[in-house]
Amino acid sequence: MCTNMQINELIQQLDRETMGHCVGMQNMAVDLENYFNYEGHILSTAALLCDVGKLYLSSYLLEKQDILTEFEKSLINNHPYYSYEIIKDYDIDENIKSLVLYHHNHSSYKNIDNLPSYNDNLEKLYTTLELVDAYQGLIEYRTYRTSHCTPYDAYKILVRENCHNQDVLDYIKDNYIY
Ligand SMILES: [Fe+2]
Ligand SMILES: [Fe+2]
Repeated sequence: MCTNMQINELIQQLDRETMGHCVGMQNMAVDLENYFNYEGHILSTAALLCDVGKLYLSSYLLEKQDILTEFEKSLINNHPYYSYEIIKDYDIDENIKSLVLYHHNHSSYKNIDNLPSYNDNLEKLYTTLELVDAYQGLIEYRTYRTSHCTPYDAYKILVRENCHNQDVLDYIKDNYIY
């Protein structure tokens, strides 16, 4: 099966909200690729795939409104690894696999044999993808959540977190807030 078909089939397996999240991330990443002149769709392919590991997480966990236990948090926090495990044999650029694995910057993955190493040259793309994931998560509607943020409120939250890629924050301010 060709890789595009493989990816399409994978995305179809996701629940509706995770699928919407992945496609929303991909669309935003395509905008950013055009804006920053990134070639090869590495960022947008990684954006589409970085959360597919949620296939391994139950809807009970993804939709839980109560405070998560430490164990539940660790399962959710490990979704980049699950995503990587799903796509590791795909015939795609190795940088995409590294972006998927480190899109929440997990230092715990860095010294494990058989996992791609953290690539300092991709630093800007890792932080871009992390911000795309966070921004989309804030603005999207979810059935199990009573409200979602406007682009302006999402932007303010992300600025307050004081740990995000400034170029991408500026891009959000200039292009998504009106
Ligand atoms: Fe993620
Ligand atoms: Fe996400």
